[in-house]
Amino acid sequence: MKKTALILFVLAINFSVFGQSSVALVVDAGASKYTINRHIYGHFSEHLGRCIYDGYWVNESMPVPKQDRIRLDIVEALKKIQIPNLRWPGGCFADEYHWRDGIGPRNQRPTMINTNWGNVTEDNSFGTHEFLQLCELLNTEPVIVGNLGSGSVEEMSKWIEYLNYDGISPMTNMRKQNGHEKPWGVSFWGIGNENWGCGGNMTAEYYVTQFRQYSSFAKNYPGTMLRKIASGANSSNYQWTDVLMQGLAGGGGRSMMWGMDVHYYTRPPRGRMGQGPRPVNAQGAPAQPPVAVQSQGSATNFTEATYFGTMQNALRIDEIIKGHDAVMTEYDSLKRVALVIGEWGIWTDQEPGTNPRFLYQQNSLRDAIIAGSTLNIFNNHCDRVKMAQLAQTINVLQAVILTEGSKMILTPTYHVFDLYKVHQDAKMLPVKFTSPDYVLGDQKLPALNVSASMDSTGVVHITLVNIDPNKSITLSTTLNQVKWSAVTGQVLTSAKITDINTFDKPNTVAIAKFDGARKQGDLLNVVLPSKSVVLLTIK
Ligand code: AHR
Repeated sequence: MKKTALILFVLAINFSVFGQSSVALVVDAGASKYTINRHIYGHFSEHLGRCIYDGYWVNESMPVPKQDRIRLDIVEALKKIQIPNLRWPGGCFADEYHWRDGIGPRNQRPTMINTNWGNVTEDNSFGTHEFLQLCELLNTEPVIVGNLGSGSVEEMSKWIEYLNYDGISPMTNMRKQNGHEKPWGVSFWGIGNENWGCGGNMTAEYYVTQFRQYSSFAKNYPGTMLRKIASGANSSNYQWTDVLMQGLAGGGGRSMMWGMDVHYYTRPPRGRMGQGPRPVNAQGAPAQPPVAVQSQGSATNFTEATYFGTMQNALRIDEIIKGHDAVMTEYDSLKRVALVIGEWGIWTDQEPGTNPRFLYQQNSLRDAIIAGSTLNIFNNHCDRVKMAQLAQTINVLQAVILTEGSKMILTPTYHVFDLYKVHQDAKMLPVKFTSPDYVLGDQKLPALNVSASMDSTGVVHITLVNIDPNKSITLSTTLNQVKWSAVTGQVLTSAKITDINTFDKPNTVAIAKFDGARKQGDLLNVVLPSKSVVLLTIK
Protein backbone atom coordinates (compact mmCIF):
# COMPACT_ATOMS: atom_id res chain seq x y z
CA MET A 1 0.00 0.00 0.00
CA LYS A 2 1.30 3.47 -0.83
CA LYS A 3 2.52 5.52 2.14
CA THR A 4 0.11 8.41 1.47
CA ALA A 5 -2.85 6.04 1.28
CA LEU A 6 -1.77 4.46 4.55
CA ILE A 7 -1.66 7.86 6.25
CA LEU A 8 -5.11 8.66 4.86
CA PHE A 9 -6.48 5.33 6.14
CA VAL A 10 -5.15 6.13 9.58
CA LEU A 11 -6.72 9.57 9.34
CA ALA A 12 -10.07 8.06 8.38
CA ILE A 13 -11.95 9.63 11.26
CA ASN A 14 -15.35 11.14 11.65
CA PHE A 15 -16.59 13.89 13.86
CA SER A 16 -19.88 15.61 14.45
CA VAL A 17 -20.40 19.32 13.85
CA PHE A 18 -23.79 20.94 14.42
CA GLY A 19 -25.75 17.72 13.87
CA GLN A 20 -23.85 16.94 10.67
CA SER A 21 -21.23 14.22 10.57
CA SER A 22 -18.00 14.60 8.66
CA VAL A 23 -16.14 11.66 7.21
CA ALA A 24 -12.76 11.15 5.55
CA LEU A 25 -13.33 8.69 2.71
CA VAL A 26 -10.56 7.06 0.69
CA VAL A 27 -11.30 5.38 -2.65
CA ASP A 28 -8.24 3.40 -3.55
CA ALA A 29 -7.88 2.58 -7.25
CA GLY A 30 -4.37 1.34 -6.51
CA ALA A 31 -5.77 -1.53 -4.45
CA SER A 32 -8.32 -2.71 -7.00
CA LYS A 33 -8.27 -6.50 -7.51
CA TYR A 34 -11.75 -7.80 -8.29
CA THR A 35 -14.48 -7.24 -10.85
CA ILE A 36 -18.09 -6.67 -9.84
CA ASN A 37 -19.88 -9.47 -11.67
CA ARG A 38 -22.86 -7.99 -13.50
CA HIS A 39 -24.90 -10.97 -12.34
CA ILE A 40 -25.07 -9.39 -8.87
CA TYR A 41 -27.75 -7.15 -10.43
CA GLY A 42 -30.11 -10.02 -11.29
CA HIS A 43 -33.84 -10.42 -10.68
CA PHE A 44 -36.17 -13.20 -9.63
CA SER A 45 -39.62 -13.84 -11.11
CA GLU A 46 -41.79 -16.67 -9.84
CA HIS A 47 -45.21 -18.02 -10.71
CA LEU A 48 -46.55 -16.23 -7.67
CA GLY A 49 -49.38 -13.72 -7.39
CA ARG A 50 -49.21 -11.17 -10.20
CA CYS A 51 -45.54 -11.42 -11.12
CA ILE A 52 -45.83 -13.61 -14.22
CA TYR A 53 -49.60 -13.64 -14.81
CA ASP A 54 -50.99 -10.09 -14.93
CA GLY A 55 -47.38 -8.89 -14.62
CA TYR A 56 -45.24 -9.78 -17.63
CA TRP A 57 -47.88 -11.99 -19.21
CA VAL A 58 -51.27 -10.39 -19.75
CA ASN A 59 -54.56 -11.06 -21.49
CA GLU A 60 -54.73 -10.41 -25.22
CA SER A 61 -57.36 -7.76 -24.52
CA MET A 62 -55.16 -5.56 -22.31
CA PRO A 63 -54.57 -2.25 -24.11
CA VAL A 64 -50.78 -2.12 -23.82
CA PRO A 65 -48.08 -2.80 -26.42
CA LYS A 66 -47.38 -6.55 -26.43
CA GLN A 67 -45.42 -9.21 -28.20
CA ASP A 68 -47.52 -12.36 -27.98
CA ARG A 69 -48.86 -11.73 -24.45
CA ILE A 70 -45.65 -10.18 -23.03
CA ARG A 71 -46.06 -6.52 -21.95
CA LEU A 72 -43.54 -4.44 -23.83
CA ASP A 73 -43.77 -1.37 -21.57
CA ILE A 74 -42.43 -3.58 -18.78
CA VAL A 75 -39.76 -4.97 -21.09
CA GLU A 76 -38.64 -1.43 -21.97
CA ALA A 77 -38.46 -0.38 -18.31
CA LEU A 78 -36.40 -3.45 -17.38
CA LYS A 79 -34.11 -3.01 -20.37
CA LYS A 80 -33.27 0.47 -19.09
CA ILE A 81 -31.83 -0.96 -15.87
CA GLN A 82 -29.95 -3.62 -17.86
CA ILE A 83 -30.98 -6.66 -15.90
CA PRO A 84 -28.23 -9.25 -16.45
CA ASN A 85 -30.21 -12.36 -15.52
CA LEU A 86 -33.69 -13.53 -14.61
CA ARG A 87 -34.31 -16.45 -12.23
CA TRP A 88 -37.41 -18.57 -12.93
CA PRO A 89 -39.88 -20.38 -12.39
CA GLY A 90 -39.43 -20.20 -8.59
CA GLY A 91 -38.97 -20.21 -5.66
CA CYS A 92 -41.12 -22.78 -3.98
CA PHE A 93 -43.04 -23.12 -7.24
CA ALA A 94 -39.95 -24.58 -8.96
CA ASP A 95 -40.08 -27.77 -6.92
CA GLU A 96 -43.67 -28.39 -7.99
CA TYR A 97 -43.25 -27.40 -11.61
CA HIS A 98 -43.31 -29.96 -14.41
CA TRP A 99 -41.84 -28.38 -17.51
CA ARG A 100 -43.57 -30.69 -20.00
CA ASP A 101 -46.91 -29.17 -18.91
CA GLY A 102 -45.70 -25.78 -20.18
CA ILE A 103 -44.81 -26.59 -23.80
CA GLY A 104 -46.79 -27.26 -26.98
CA PRO A 105 -50.12 -25.76 -28.07
CA ARG A 106 -51.39 -23.60 -25.22
CA ASN A 107 -54.96 -24.80 -25.43
CA GLN A 108 -53.78 -28.37 -24.85
CA ARG A 109 -51.57 -27.68 -21.83
CA PRO A 110 -52.78 -29.23 -18.58
CA THR A 111 -53.50 -27.07 -15.58
CA MET A 112 -52.10 -27.48 -12.06
CA ILE A 113 -52.69 -26.07 -8.63
CA ASN A 114 -50.15 -23.59 -7.37
CA THR A 115 -50.27 -24.93 -3.82
CA ASN A 116 -47.62 -22.62 -2.41
CA TRP A 117 -49.22 -19.45 -3.59
CA GLY A 118 -52.94 -19.41 -2.94
CA ASN A 119 -53.99 -22.69 -4.58
CA VAL A 120 -54.72 -20.76 -7.75
CA THR A 121 -55.04 -22.63 -11.03
CA GLU A 122 -51.89 -22.41 -13.10
CA ASP A 123 -52.87 -22.71 -16.76
CA ASN A 124 -49.27 -23.24 -17.93
CA SER A 125 -49.70 -20.68 -20.70
CA PHE A 126 -46.36 -19.20 -19.66
CA GLY A 127 -43.80 -21.98 -20.00
CA THR A 128 -40.30 -22.63 -21.29
CA HIS A 129 -40.69 -20.98 -24.72
CA GLU A 130 -42.47 -17.96 -23.30
CA PHE A 131 -39.85 -17.46 -20.58
CA LEU A 132 -36.99 -17.68 -23.03
CA GLN A 133 -38.77 -15.34 -25.42
CA LEU A 134 -39.03 -12.88 -22.51
CA CYS A 135 -35.31 -13.25 -21.78
CA GLU A 136 -34.50 -12.55 -25.41
CA LEU A 137 -36.65 -9.41 -25.36
CA LEU A 138 -34.98 -8.29 -22.13
CA ASN A 139 -31.53 -9.16 -23.47
CA THR A 140 -30.94 -11.02 -20.24
CA GLU A 141 -29.52 -14.41 -19.31
CA PRO A 142 -31.94 -17.07 -18.03
CA VAL A 143 -31.38 -18.77 -14.69
CA ILE A 144 -33.66 -21.82 -14.59
CA VAL A 145 -34.34 -23.67 -11.36
CA GLY A 146 -35.07 -27.38 -11.92
CA ASN A 147 -37.48 -29.46 -9.85
CA LEU A 148 -35.58 -31.64 -7.39
CA GLY A 149 -38.23 -31.67 -4.66
CA SER A 150 -41.07 -33.44 -6.50
CA GLY A 151 -39.66 -34.11 -9.96
CA SER A 152 -37.34 -36.81 -11.17
CA VAL A 153 -33.79 -37.12 -12.40
CA GLU A 154 -35.15 -38.05 -15.83
CA GLU A 155 -37.43 -34.99 -15.96
CA MET A 156 -34.63 -32.57 -15.17
CA SER A 157 -32.23 -34.30 -17.50
CA LYS A 158 -34.67 -34.16 -20.41
CA TRP A 159 -35.47 -30.49 -19.83
CA ILE A 160 -31.78 -29.69 -20.27
CA GLU A 161 -31.64 -31.81 -23.43
CA TYR A 162 -34.73 -29.96 -24.75
CA LEU A 163 -33.09 -26.60 -24.05
CA ASN A 164 -29.52 -27.20 -25.05
CA TYR A 165 -29.04 -30.07 -27.52
CA ASP A 166 -28.69 -29.50 -31.24
CA GLY A 167 -28.21 -33.08 -32.48
CA ILE A 168 -30.74 -35.76 -33.35
CA SER A 169 -32.74 -36.67 -30.25
CA PRO A 170 -36.34 -37.00 -29.10
CA MET A 171 -36.15 -33.77 -27.10
CA THR A 172 -34.58 -31.85 -29.98
CA ASN A 173 -37.36 -33.04 -32.27
CA MET A 174 -40.00 -32.02 -29.79
CA ARG A 175 -38.48 -28.55 -29.42
CA LYS A 176 -38.41 -28.14 -33.19
CA GLN A 177 -42.03 -29.27 -33.48
CA ASN A 178 -42.87 -26.62 -30.91
CA GLY A 179 -41.33 -23.97 -33.10
CA HIS A 180 -37.79 -23.48 -31.82
CA GLU A 181 -35.23 -24.78 -34.28
CA LYS A 182 -32.01 -23.95 -32.44
CA PRO A 183 -31.21 -24.71 -28.80
CA TRP A 184 -31.25 -21.78 -26.41
CA GLY A 185 -28.03 -22.68 -24.60
CA VAL A 186 -29.22 -22.15 -21.03
CA SER A 187 -26.17 -22.23 -18.78
CA PHE A 188 -27.22 -21.16 -15.26
CA TRP A 189 -29.01 -24.15 -13.77
CA GLY A 190 -30.48 -24.40 -10.26
CA ILE A 191 -30.64 -27.91 -8.80
CA GLY A 192 -33.73 -27.30 -6.65
CA ASN A 193 -34.78 -24.38 -4.47
CA GLU A 194 -34.80 -24.07 -0.69
CA ASN A 195 -34.57 -27.82 -0.32
CA TRP A 196 -34.21 -27.26 3.43
CA GLY A 197 -37.82 -25.97 3.37
CA CYS A 198 -40.53 -25.89 0.71
CA GLY A 199 -38.26 -27.85 -1.67
CA GLY A 200 -38.54 -31.07 0.34
CA ASN A 201 -37.58 -30.34 3.98
CA MET A 202 -34.31 -32.18 3.43
CA THR A 203 -31.30 -32.35 5.67
CA ALA A 204 -28.11 -30.95 4.18
CA GLU A 205 -26.62 -34.45 3.96
CA TYR A 206 -29.63 -35.81 2.08
CA TYR A 207 -29.64 -32.82 -0.27
CA VAL A 208 -25.97 -33.39 -1.08
CA THR A 209 -26.74 -36.97 -2.12
CA GLN A 210 -29.67 -35.78 -4.21
CA PHE A 211 -27.61 -33.05 -5.81
CA ARG A 212 -24.89 -35.50 -6.78
CA GLN A 213 -27.42 -37.76 -8.49
CA TYR A 214 -29.40 -35.03 -10.28
CA SER A 215 -26.26 -33.26 -11.27
CA SER A 216 -24.74 -36.40 -12.83
CA PHE A 217 -27.56 -36.43 -15.38
CA ALA A 218 -27.60 -32.68 -15.95
CA LYS A 219 -25.38 -32.85 -19.03
CA ASN A 220 -23.21 -30.35 -20.80
CA TYR A 221 -24.18 -30.38 -24.48
CA PRO A 222 -21.86 -28.96 -27.14
CA GLY A 223 -21.65 -25.19 -26.84
CA THR A 224 -23.20 -24.93 -23.39
CA MET A 225 -21.40 -25.65 -20.17
CA LEU A 226 -23.86 -25.76 -17.29
CA ARG A 227 -23.13 -23.54 -14.30
CA LYS A 228 -24.92 -25.53 -11.62
CA ILE A 229 -26.28 -23.71 -8.62
CA ALA A 230 -26.96 -25.65 -5.44
CA SER A 231 -29.77 -24.75 -3.08
CA GLY A 232 -27.85 -22.89 -0.40
CA ALA A 233 -28.59 -22.03 3.19
CA ASN A 234 -31.44 -20.19 4.74
CA SER A 235 -29.95 -16.97 6.03
CA SER A 236 -27.15 -17.68 8.56
CA ASN A 237 -27.33 -21.48 8.57
CA TYR A 238 -23.58 -22.00 8.16
CA GLN A 239 -23.85 -25.70 8.92
CA TRP A 240 -25.77 -26.16 5.63
CA THR A 241 -22.94 -24.41 3.81
CA ASP A 242 -20.34 -26.56 5.54
CA VAL A 243 -22.05 -29.81 4.52
CA LEU A 244 -22.52 -28.64 0.93
CA MET A 245 -18.97 -27.44 0.57
CA GLN A 246 -17.65 -30.69 1.97
CA GLY A 247 -19.93 -32.86 -0.19
CA LEU A 248 -19.88 -30.90 -3.43
CA ALA A 249 -16.75 -28.77 -3.49
CA GLY A 250 -14.35 -30.56 -1.17
CA GLY A 251 -11.57 -32.98 -1.83
CA GLY A 252 -9.36 -30.65 -3.82
CA GLY A 253 -10.96 -31.76 -7.10
CA ARG A 254 -13.31 -29.74 -9.29
CA SER A 255 -16.39 -28.44 -7.54
CA MET A 256 -19.65 -30.03 -8.69
CA MET A 257 -21.37 -26.70 -8.24
CA TRP A 258 -20.69 -23.33 -9.84
CA GLY A 259 -22.46 -21.55 -7.04
CA MET A 260 -24.43 -21.94 -3.85
CA ASP A 261 -27.67 -20.01 -3.48
CA VAL A 262 -28.27 -18.51 -0.03
CA HIS A 263 -31.57 -16.72 0.63
CA TYR A 264 -31.96 -13.80 3.00
CA TYR A 265 -35.06 -11.64 3.47
CA THR A 266 -35.24 -8.48 5.54
CA ARG A 267 -38.21 -8.45 7.88
CA PRO A 268 -39.39 -5.47 9.88
CA PRO A 269 -38.62 -6.08 13.56
CA ARG A 270 -41.94 -7.50 14.71
CA GLY A 271 -42.59 -10.82 16.36
CA ARG A 272 -45.25 -13.05 14.88
CA MET A 273 -48.26 -11.19 16.22
CA GLY A 274 -46.17 -10.38 19.27
CA GLN A 275 -45.22 -14.02 19.88
CA GLY A 276 -41.46 -13.60 19.56
CA PRO A 277 -39.17 -14.84 16.82
CA ARG A 278 -40.45 -16.96 13.96
CA PRO A 279 -40.01 -20.71 14.74
CA VAL A 280 -37.58 -22.62 12.54
CA ASN A 281 -37.10 -26.32 11.84
CA ALA A 282 -33.86 -28.28 12.23
CA GLN A 283 -32.56 -26.93 8.92
CA GLY A 284 -33.22 -23.33 9.95
CA ALA A 285 -36.25 -23.15 7.66
CA PRO A 286 -39.47 -21.47 8.76
CA ALA A 287 -41.42 -24.17 10.59
CA GLN A 288 -44.54 -23.09 8.74
CA PRO A 289 -44.89 -22.37 5.02
CA PRO A 290 -42.90 -19.23 4.14
CA VAL A 291 -46.02 -17.21 3.67
CA ALA A 292 -46.98 -13.86 5.11
CA VAL A 293 -50.09 -14.98 6.94
CA GLN A 294 -48.66 -13.57 10.13
CA SER A 295 -48.10 -9.85 10.33
CA GLN A 296 -44.67 -8.78 9.07
CA GLY A 297 -45.18 -5.04 9.49
CA SER A 298 -46.66 -2.55 7.08
CA ALA A 299 -44.86 -1.59 3.88
CA THR A 300 -45.93 2.02 4.16
CA ASN A 301 -47.00 2.85 7.69
CA PHE A 302 -44.08 2.49 10.08
CA THR A 303 -42.34 4.46 12.80
CA GLU A 304 -38.71 5.50 12.97
CA ALA A 305 -38.15 2.73 15.53
CA THR A 306 -39.44 0.17 13.01
CA TYR A 307 -37.31 1.76 10.30
CA PHE A 308 -34.26 1.49 12.54
CA GLY A 309 -34.92 -2.17 13.34
CA THR A 310 -35.58 -2.96 9.68
CA MET A 311 -32.28 -1.40 8.67
CA GLN A 312 -30.56 -3.36 11.41
CA ASN A 313 -31.97 -6.55 9.88
CA ALA A 314 -31.12 -5.47 6.34
CA LEU A 315 -27.49 -4.68 7.18
CA ARG A 316 -27.10 -8.17 8.70
CA ILE A 317 -26.56 -9.43 5.18
CA ASP A 318 -22.97 -8.20 5.46
CA GLU A 319 -22.30 -10.43 8.46
CA ILE A 320 -24.13 -13.34 6.77
CA ILE A 321 -22.00 -13.06 3.63
CA LYS A 322 -18.85 -12.96 5.76
CA GLY A 323 -20.04 -16.03 7.69
CA HIS A 324 -20.71 -18.11 4.56
CA ASP A 325 -17.52 -16.88 2.91
CA ALA A 326 -15.47 -17.97 5.91
CA VAL A 327 -16.90 -21.50 5.74
CA MET A 328 -16.53 -21.66 1.96
CA THR A 329 -12.95 -20.46 2.14
CA GLU A 330 -12.02 -23.42 4.34
CA TYR A 331 -12.71 -25.64 1.33
CA ASP A 332 -12.15 -23.18 -1.48
CA SER A 333 -9.48 -20.64 -0.68
CA LEU A 334 -9.31 -19.55 -4.33
CA LYS A 335 -12.97 -18.52 -4.20
CA ARG A 336 -13.96 -20.54 -7.26
CA VAL A 337 -17.40 -21.39 -5.92
CA ALA A 338 -19.72 -18.42 -6.19
CA LEU A 339 -21.86 -17.28 -3.31
CA VAL A 340 -25.21 -16.53 -4.93
CA ILE A 341 -27.85 -14.56 -3.04
CA GLY A 342 -30.73 -15.84 -5.14
CA GLU A 343 -33.51 -14.24 -3.11
CA TRP A 344 -33.13 -11.01 -1.17
CA GLY A 345 -35.19 -7.96 -0.31
CA ILE A 346 -37.71 -6.72 2.22
CA TRP A 347 -40.75 -8.83 3.05
CA THR A 348 -43.60 -6.83 4.61
CA ASP A 349 -47.35 -7.25 4.98
CA GLN A 350 -49.28 -7.50 1.76
CA GLU A 351 -51.27 -4.40 0.80
CA PRO A 352 -54.64 -4.34 2.58
CA GLY A 353 -57.40 -5.94 0.55
CA THR A 354 -55.06 -8.09 -1.56
CA ASN A 355 -54.66 -11.87 -1.46
CA PRO A 356 -52.20 -12.59 1.39
CA ARG A 357 -50.60 -15.39 -0.64
CA PHE A 358 -49.87 -13.03 -3.53
CA LEU A 359 -47.28 -11.09 -1.51
CA TYR A 360 -48.16 -7.77 -3.17
CA GLN A 361 -46.53 -4.98 -1.17
CA GLN A 362 -45.87 -1.29 -1.73
CA ASN A 363 -42.33 0.01 -1.91
CA SER A 364 -41.06 3.06 -0.02
CA LEU A 365 -37.92 5.15 0.22
CA ARG A 366 -36.97 2.75 3.06
CA ASP A 367 -36.84 -0.06 0.49
CA ALA A 368 -34.62 2.00 -1.80
CA ILE A 369 -32.25 2.59 1.13
CA ILE A 370 -32.23 -1.18 1.74
CA ALA A 371 -31.54 -1.88 -1.94
CA GLY A 372 -28.74 0.70 -2.15
CA SER A 373 -27.11 -0.60 1.04
CA THR A 374 -27.42 -4.26 0.02
CA LEU A 375 -25.95 -3.64 -3.42
CA ASN A 376 -23.05 -1.71 -1.86
CA ILE A 377 -22.44 -4.71 0.39
CA PHE A 378 -22.57 -7.12 -2.58
CA ASN A 379 -20.15 -4.93 -4.55
CA ASN A 380 -17.69 -4.86 -1.67
CA HIS A 381 -17.86 -8.68 -1.41
CA CYS A 382 -17.53 -9.26 -5.15
CA ASP A 383 -14.59 -11.61 -4.61
CA ARG A 384 -17.15 -14.19 -3.40
CA VAL A 385 -20.61 -12.88 -4.29
CA LYS A 386 -20.92 -13.36 -8.05
CA MET A 387 -24.66 -13.48 -8.53
CA ALA A 388 -27.80 -12.24 -6.77
CA GLN A 389 -31.49 -11.85 -7.52
CA LEU A 390 -33.89 -9.38 -5.96
CA ALA A 391 -37.25 -10.92 -5.01
CA GLN A 392 -39.36 -10.30 -7.07
CA THR A 393 -39.48 -8.17 -10.21
CA ILE A 394 -43.17 -7.26 -10.60
CA ASN A 395 -46.00 -6.98 -8.04
CA VAL A 396 -44.38 -9.36 -5.53
CA LEU A 397 -42.29 -8.51 -2.42
CA GLN A 398 -39.65 -5.84 -3.13
CA ALA A 399 -40.76 -5.26 -6.70
CA VAL A 400 -39.16 -2.82 -9.09
CA ILE A 401 -42.44 -2.46 -11.02
CA LEU A 402 -46.05 -2.39 -9.81
CA THR A 403 -49.02 -2.69 -12.15
CA GLU A 404 -52.72 -1.98 -11.98
CA GLY A 405 -54.45 -3.06 -15.17
CA SER A 406 -52.66 -1.33 -18.01
CA LYS A 407 -50.99 1.19 -15.67
CA MET A 408 -47.53 0.62 -14.32
CA ILE A 409 -45.23 2.48 -11.94
CA LEU A 410 -41.54 2.30 -11.17
CA THR A 411 -40.81 1.85 -7.48
CA PRO A 412 -38.05 3.60 -5.49
CA THR A 413 -36.13 0.29 -5.66
CA TYR A 414 -36.24 0.43 -9.47
CA HIS A 415 -34.43 3.76 -9.36
CA VAL A 416 -31.64 2.29 -7.24
CA PHE A 417 -31.02 -0.37 -9.89
CA ASP A 418 -31.03 2.39 -12.48
CA LEU A 419 -28.36 4.32 -10.57
CA TYR A 420 -26.22 1.28 -9.75
CA LYS A 421 -26.14 -0.31 -13.22
CA VAL A 422 -22.84 1.49 -13.84
CA HIS A 423 -21.12 -0.95 -11.47
CA GLN A 424 -21.90 -3.97 -13.67
CA ASP A 425 -18.65 -5.67 -14.75
CA ALA A 426 -16.58 -2.71 -13.50
CA LYS A 427 -13.45 -3.03 -11.36
CA MET A 428 -14.32 -2.71 -7.71
CA LEU A 429 -12.34 0.00 -5.93
CA PRO A 430 -11.85 -0.61 -2.20
CA VAL A 431 -13.12 2.16 0.07
CA LYS A 432 -12.02 3.06 3.60
CA PHE A 433 -13.85 5.25 6.08
CA THR A 434 -15.26 5.22 9.57
CA SER A 435 -19.00 5.64 9.42
CA PRO A 436 -20.77 8.08 11.68
CA ASP A 437 -23.49 6.54 13.82
CA TYR A 438 -27.19 6.70 13.19
CA VAL A 439 -28.41 6.83 16.78
CA LEU A 440 -31.90 6.06 18.00
CA GLY A 441 -32.41 5.88 21.74
CA ASP A 442 -29.59 3.77 23.12
CA GLN A 443 -28.95 1.96 19.82
CA LYS A 444 -26.77 2.82 16.89
CA LEU A 445 -26.07 1.69 13.34
CA PRO A 446 -23.47 2.75 10.77
CA ALA A 447 -25.19 5.62 8.96
CA LEU A 448 -23.04 5.46 5.85
CA ASN A 449 -22.27 2.73 3.34
CA VAL A 450 -20.33 3.15 0.12
CA SER A 451 -19.02 1.22 -2.85
CA ALA A 452 -16.95 2.34 -5.82
CA SER A 453 -15.84 1.03 -9.18
CA MET A 454 -13.95 2.00 -12.32
CA ASP A 455 -15.49 1.10 -15.66
CA SER A 456 -13.67 0.01 -18.80
CA THR A 457 -13.30 3.64 -19.96
CA GLY A 458 -11.66 4.75 -16.70
CA VAL A 459 -14.73 6.51 -15.30
CA VAL A 460 -15.11 6.12 -11.54
CA HIS A 461 -18.54 5.67 -9.95
CA ILE A 462 -19.22 5.94 -6.24
CA THR A 463 -22.56 4.99 -4.73
CA LEU A 464 -23.25 6.29 -1.25
CA VAL A 465 -26.16 5.64 1.09
CA ASN A 466 -27.00 7.70 4.16
CA ILE A 467 -29.51 5.66 6.14
CA ASP A 468 -29.91 8.34 8.83
CA PRO A 469 -33.34 9.92 8.28
CA ASN A 470 -32.40 13.07 10.20
CA LYS A 471 -28.80 14.05 9.55
CA SER A 472 -26.73 14.74 6.48
CA ILE A 473 -23.12 13.62 6.23
CA THR A 474 -20.23 15.62 4.83
CA LEU A 475 -17.43 13.70 3.17
CA SER A 476 -13.96 14.68 2.22
CA THR A 477 -12.89 12.13 -0.36
CA THR A 478 -9.44 11.22 -1.60
CA LEU A 479 -9.32 9.35 -4.90
CA ASN A 480 -6.09 7.45 -4.71
CA GLN A 481 -4.48 6.80 -8.13
CA VAL A 482 -7.35 8.33 -10.09
CA LYS A 483 -6.82 11.18 -12.58
CA TRP A 484 -9.97 13.26 -12.63
CA SER A 485 -11.20 16.75 -13.28
CA ALA A 486 -15.00 16.73 -12.93
CA VAL A 487 -17.77 15.20 -10.87
CA THR A 488 -21.50 14.95 -11.52
CA GLY A 489 -24.15 13.29 -9.42
CA GLN A 490 -27.66 11.94 -9.12
CA VAL A 491 -29.70 11.51 -5.96
CA LEU A 492 -32.69 9.50 -4.83
CA THR A 493 -34.44 10.85 -1.76
CA SER A 494 -37.78 12.24 -0.62
CA ALA A 495 -39.37 14.19 2.21
CA LYS A 496 -40.25 11.16 4.30
CA ILE A 497 -38.77 7.70 4.67
CA THR A 498 -42.29 6.30 4.19
CA ASP A 499 -42.78 8.04 0.83
CA ILE A 500 -43.94 5.83 -2.03
CA ASN A 501 -44.85 6.09 -5.69
CA THR A 502 -48.52 5.49 -6.47
CA PHE A 503 -50.56 5.19 -9.63
CA ASP A 504 -51.83 8.73 -8.98
CA LYS A 505 -48.44 10.16 -8.01
CA PRO A 506 -45.85 7.98 -9.73
CA ASN A 507 -42.85 10.30 -9.25
CA THR A 508 -42.79 11.15 -5.56
CA VAL A 509 -39.55 9.21 -5.17
CA ALA A 510 -37.51 9.72 -8.33
CA ILE A 511 -33.94 10.36 -9.40
CA ALA A 512 -32.87 14.02 -9.41
CA LYS A 513 -29.69 15.87 -10.29
CA PHE A 514 -27.32 16.06 -7.34
CA ASP A 515 -25.27 19.20 -6.82
CA GLY A 516 -23.82 18.40 -3.42
CA ALA A 517 -20.43 17.27 -4.76
CA ARG A 518 -17.49 19.62 -5.46
CA LYS A 519 -13.89 19.27 -6.55
CA GLN A 520 -11.70 21.27 -4.20
CA GLY A 521 -8.06 20.83 -5.11
CA ASP A 522 -7.51 17.08 -5.18
CA LEU A 523 -10.36 16.44 -2.80
CA LEU A 524 -13.91 15.51 -3.63
CA ASN A 525 -16.19 17.10 -1.05
CA VAL A 526 -19.73 15.84 -0.73
CA VAL A 527 -22.74 16.75 1.38
CA LEU A 528 -24.85 13.63 1.48
CA PRO A 529 -28.47 14.39 2.39
CA SER A 530 -30.25 12.41 5.09
CA LYS A 531 -32.09 9.23 3.89
CA SER A 532 -30.59 9.30 0.44
CA VAL A 533 -28.89 7.19 -2.21
CA VAL A 534 -26.37 9.08 -4.34
CA LEU A 535 -24.40 8.17 -7.44
CA LEU A 536 -21.27 10.17 -8.25
CA THR A 537 -19.66 9.98 -11.68
CA ILE A 538 -16.04 11.07 -11.72
CA LYS A 539 -14.12 11.70 -14.95
O1 AHR B 1 -40.01 -15.28 -2.87
C1 AHR B 1 -41.04 -15.93 -2.21
C2 AHR B 1 -40.61 -17.28 -1.65
O2 AHR B 1 -39.66 -17.08 -0.66
C3 AHR B 1 -39.95 -18.22 -2.63
O3 AHR B 1 -40.86 -18.95 -3.36
C4 AHR B 1 -39.16 -19.11 -1.73
O4 AHR B 1 -38.02 -19.62 -2.37
C5 AHR B 1 -38.85 -18.23 -0.54
O5 AHR B 1 -39.16 -18.86 0.66
